[in-house]
Amino acid sequence: MATPQTAPRRISVINGPNLNLLGVRKPEIYGRTTLADIEATLRAQAAELGYEITFMQSNHEGDLIDAIQAARTASAGIIINPAAYTHTSVALHDALEAAELPVVEVHLSNVHQREPFRHHSYVSPQATAVIAGAGAQGYELALAFLARHLG
Ligand code: DQA
Repeated sequence: MATPQTAPRRISVINGPNLNLLGVRKPEIYGRTTLADIEATLRAQAAELGYEITFMQSNHEGDLIDAIQAARTASAGIIINPAAYTHTSVALHDALEAAELPVVEVHLSNVHQREPFRHHSYVSPQATAVIAGAGAQGYELALAFLARHLG
């Protein structure tokens, strides 16, 4: 008997502008953990959970949209820290809507404690869950949540 088609055991982790500077950019807000540290931690955690990770960062909005469109067919879920595009990008909102995947929106900082312009997110309406203020650990929480959510 043919095995039923299952969703790919892959999760896309998508990081927006300036997150390549994690560890040196405003460590009092974003911490000292680098994006490479986060990627290594997530890859190890994903392997334990039986998932593979596609991990990317870009400073360009169109690249982030391309990554979301690629995830649509390649991945079972998306973890995204859209960084400053969180607060500006209708295009990211639309791409996530079109992806039709579970999405966890992650922010290292608690954006609601910060400037008013960071309080609104174009991404949150498309997110299954939002994690803000847990620092780099927010990515691990997002992955644990998604893996259990996906079953
Ligand atoms: C951020 C919060 C955003 O407001 C900011 O523009 C970032 C990082 C965070 O992870 O806390 O670049 O997404």
